[in-house]
Formats: sequence, structure tokens, C-alpha cells
Amino acid sequence: MLAIENLKKQFGQNVAVDDVSLSIGTGEMVGIIGRSGAGKSTLLRCINQLSEPTSGQIAWHGRRVTGLRGRSLRNWQRQCGMIFQQFNLVPRLDVITNVLMGRLSYRNTILSLMKVFAQEERAMAIMTLERVEMAAHALQRADTLSGGQQQRVAIARALVQEPSVLLADEPIASLDPRNARKVMEILRSINMEDGITVLCNLHTLDTARRYCDRIIGMAAGKIVYDGLSHELDLKSLQKIYGAEDQPFDEKITSTSIPQGDDTACPLTHVG
Ligand SMILES: Nc1ncnc2c1ncn2[C@@H]1O[C@H](COP(=O)(O)OP(=O)(O)OP(=O)(O)O)[C@@H](O)[C@H]1O
Ligand SMILES: [Mg+2]
Repeated sequence: MLAIENLKKQFGQNVAVDDVSLSIGTGEMVGIIGRSGAGKSTLLRCINQLSEPTSGQIAWHGRRVTGLRGRSLRNWQRQCGMIFQQFNLVPRLDVITNVLMGRLSYRNTILSLMKVFAQEERAMAIMTLERVEMAAHALQRADTLSGGQQQRVAIARALVQEPSVLLADEPIASLDPRNARKVMEILRSINMEDGITVLCNLHTLDTARRYCDRIIGMAAGKIVYDGLSHELDLKSLQKIYGAEDQPFDEKITSTSIPQGDDTACPLTHVG
């Protein structure tokens, strides 16, 4: 279980994450939604300690992960696979080497610097690429891939870290709807088949509802909704997104009502 207690992250006078307390069970898939600037990315960055919280605590299975240094910090960051909107692959390296980068934290420094990987690690990388349907591109340079392909490679790189938690920060924001669906289906299958806890920042409510069992809504650094996705109602949406000038129900109907079958979550058949 991931337990977050009174987490606060402040940048000068700006409180990006404001007294957040949460507990996330092992194997959950949680969507985090909210307006731009609500604090979603900062929350994920605090969880994997890319960003040091101003105060508060985070623990994984009862072991504190805030304030870790050195090897313990690297171990925790290895356990937290990270996926970003802009994929963050090394453009000039081929696909398989990018995936093997996910193994670096398991290597000693010299081998890491020399990028020497064992046969088993290469086999593992290929198998993982097969899983995201990218094995055929193993030797292709990352900068020649489409966005959807790059994100699938980034997922493979995170998976070979053998993470317990996957933190995805707007993983589909730069993708077209078809690739977006594919990436979300992969994340959901990783969650269901491997039991990996997935926390996913999403900017479309529809996607969060379709793929995540639980939704956390953030506004101005605070959690304003935490519950089952299908129970998210108009009042909660107003708290998350604000009413703004436009009549709110108009805006919601366009984003919240499940679309036709072509976009339906295939995992409804699985679970
Ligand atoms: N490194 C930083 N230095 C200063 N302020 C920051 C930094 N990172 C985030 N912030 C501020 O913290 C607040 C929350 O930002 P954050 O990126 O977490 O929001 P977000 O919900 O992820 O938004 P978006 O949907 O646009 O990605 C914003 O006001 C932002 O300007
Ligand atoms: Mg963000």
C-alpha cells in the first residue's frame, strides 16, 4: 500500500500540493484528474522523489520513502516506473538500448557506463517489447518512431525496471485517439495481469472513467474527489474543474458520457 500523509509541496509562495493524504492499495489503477496547475504532476514527482516534498510523508508497505538518499533512493525510484507525456527516450539510441536503460539501476557503475547488458537482460527487453508490440522495431532509432510507438517503448523501459508502481504523467496527451487507446489498454493490462499499482494523470475525464476504477480529483493542490469512477457526479466535477463561464452540464456531457463501441474499454470484457 502507498500511504501519503499530509503531503505538501511549495514553490516559493505557491503551494502546488496542499496537505494531501491518500492511501492507494496494491494493484489499484487510479486516475488523477484536475485542471492545469492543480498539482497532479507535482504529486507524482513527490511520490517517486524526483521532487522533495516540503513536508509530509509517503510510505510504501509501511516503509518511509520520503527523505531517502543514495542507494535507498535509487531503489525506490527503480520500484516506481515513470512514464511521461513526452516519452523521454534517448533519441539517437535504438529501441532495445532505450529499453535496457530501464535495467541500469540493476548494474554496477562501470557496466552501466559501458552499457554492457547480459544476454538475459536482452531477452527480457525483447520479451517486453513483444508485449507492447514493438519487438519488430528493436533495432530502429527511437527518433524515427511515431509518438504512439515511442510511448510503448517508454512503457517497456519502465517495465524492465520490474516496478511495483507505475506513475504515468499524461501518458496519452500527445497521442492521437487510436494510439491513446492502445497505450491505455497496455497500462490497464499491466495493472491487471502483473498486479502493478498504476497512478495515471489524465486530462480527459472520459479516459479516466474508462480505464481507472478509482478517480482522484485535484483542485488547487488539494484532493476534492476520491472515489469510484462511476460515482463521480456533477457536483464533484464542478469541484474539480470549476463551473467557469460556460454552463457546466454542457461541458460535462461532451466529455463524460461514454462514446460508441469503437472507443469502449476492451477490458470490460476481461474484468
Ligand atoms: N519546479 C517548479 N517551480 C515552480 N513552480 C512549480 C514547479 N513545478 C510546478 N510548479 C507550480 O506548481 C503548480 C502545480 O503544477 P503541476 O505541474 O503539478 O500541475 P498539473 O496539475 O500537473 O498541471 P498540468 O495539467 O498543466 O500538467 C503550478 O502552479 C506550477 O506552476
Ligand atoms: Mg502536469
